[in-house]
Amino acid sequence: MSTSIDVFAKAREHERLEQLRAARELDLVPYFRVLEGPTLPVVEMEGKRRIMLGSNNYLGLTGDERVKQGALDALNRYGTGLTGSRFLNGTTDLHLELENELADWFGTEAALVFTTGHQANVGALGTILGPGDTVVVDSGDHASILDGCILSRAKLRPFRHNRIDKLEQALEKAAADGGGILVVVDGVFSMEGDVAPLPEIAELSHRHGARLMVDEAHALGVLGARGAGASELFGVEDRVDLRMATFSKSLASCGGVIAGPADVIEFLRVSSRPFMFTASAVPAALGAALAAVRICRSDEGRKLFARVLDNARYLHRGLDELGFQVVQPTRLADGTEIVTTVVPVVVGDDWKAAFLWKGLYDAGVYVNVALHPAVPPGGALLRTSVMATHDRDTLDRALEIFAQAKRTFESEHGPLPGRR
Ligand SMILES: Cc1ncc(COP(=O)(O)O)c(C=O)c1O
Repeated sequence: MSTSIDVFAKAREHERLEQLRAARELDLVPYFRVLEGPTLPVVEMEGKRRIMLGSNNYLGLTGDERVKQGALDALNRYGTGLTGSRFLNGTTDLHLELENELADWFGTEAALVFTTGHQANVGALGTILGPGDTVVVDSGDHASILDGCILSRAKLRPFRHNRIDKLEQALEKAAADGGGILVVVDGVFSMEGDVAPLPEIAELSHRHGARLMVDEAHALGVLGARGAGASELFGVEDRVDLRMATFSKSLASCGGVIAGPADVIEFLRVSSRPFMFTASAVPAALGAALAAVRICRSDEGRKLFARVLDNARYLHRGLDELGFQVVQPTRLADGTEIVTTVVPVVVGDDWKAAFLWKGLYDAGVYVNVALHPAVPPGGALLRTSVMATHDRDTLDRALEIFAQAKRTFESEHGPLPGRR
C-alpha cells in the first residue's frame, strides 16, 4: 500500500505563500536583507548606508578591537573549527574559562556553554523536564523556550503575558498535575521589550513549590548594576534557580549558556541531547564572547550599560513624541520606569507594517518587522533596538526619517495607531 499524501505539499500550499508572493512582487519582504559589512550603528546593506536599528549588538562590541582580537587569538590557537561535540573532542580551555567567568558573573555555582542560545533553552528544558512534569510559561516567551518544552513532553501551561493573576491560576492547576513544576519567563521579552515582574513571579513560584528559570538573553549586559540581567535588577538572583543567556546580543558573538546549581549543570553536561549531539561552537565565537564578558565586567561595562539604556530612552521618547504607539516602559514598585534596548512601534496590521518598514528602509533606516507568531495575531510591530555606540546625531537622523515615513505612510494608507 502507498500513501497519496505528499509531505512536501505543505511547502507548496502553506497559508503565507500568497502573502509572500505578493510581498516579493512589491519588494516588501523585510527578511533576509543582505548586509555587506559589519553590524555597526550605520551599516552597508544592499548597496546603501542605512542606520541600523534592528540589531541585538546592544553594547556595540562586534566592532570592538579587543573583542575582534579575542576572536583572532582563538582562531589562531585552535583553528577554524572543533569539528565535534563538546562531549567528545570539542571542549577547550576557552570553554572552561568562559564557563567560570559566566558563573562568577551570574553568581551561580556553575555554567554550561552551548553552541547557540536556542540550543541552551532546548537543551536545558528538554532535559530538566520530563513527561510527568508541568512547565508554566508566559505566552510571550521566546520560541526556543517553547521548543524545549515541546521536546520534554512535559505538560505545558501557558499564562497570559505578564499577568500575575493568570500565573497564579496556572500554578494552582499545575499543583494538581502531580509532577514537578518549572516556571520559565523571559527577563526582557524579545519583541515587546517589556520586563517580567520577577519579584512577584519568584514569590508565587516559591509558594507553589515550583522552580524558576529566567531567560536573560536581552537583559545580560544591559540590566542591573553588574549587567547580570533582570534577576539582578530586581534583586531576586537568589530566588531564580536557572539563568539562561545568549552570546548573540550584548556579547557580540554566537553561543548560549545555562547557569545554576553545580549538580544540575553536571546533569545537563552528561544528559542534554542538544548539548551532546551537536558540534561545539567555532573557537572564534568563544574568544569573542570571553573578551566581551570581560569588558562587561570591567568599569567600562557599567558605562556601556548606562549608555545603551540612555539611547533607548532617547529613541523611545522621540518616537512617542512623533505620535507612534510605542510599548510603554515597565514601571517598578519604586516608580522607576525601565525602557530596555528593545523599543517597538505598534502597527497592528501585517501589510501596514511591511509598507511602513519599506518607507523607512528606502529612506535609510533598517528595523525588524515582527509578525505573528512572533507577536499575537494582529499585533505586528516594527521592532527597533539601539546600541551603546549610536550617537545622538544618528538617532536624530533616524527620528527625522521616522517622521517623514509616517507622513508619507498616513497620506497613502490612513492613520497609524497613535499614542496611548
Ligand atoms: C529571549 C531569547 N531567548 C533565546 C534566544 C536564542 O538565542 P540564540 O540567538 O543565541 O540562538 C533568543 C534569540 O533570538 C532570544 O531572543
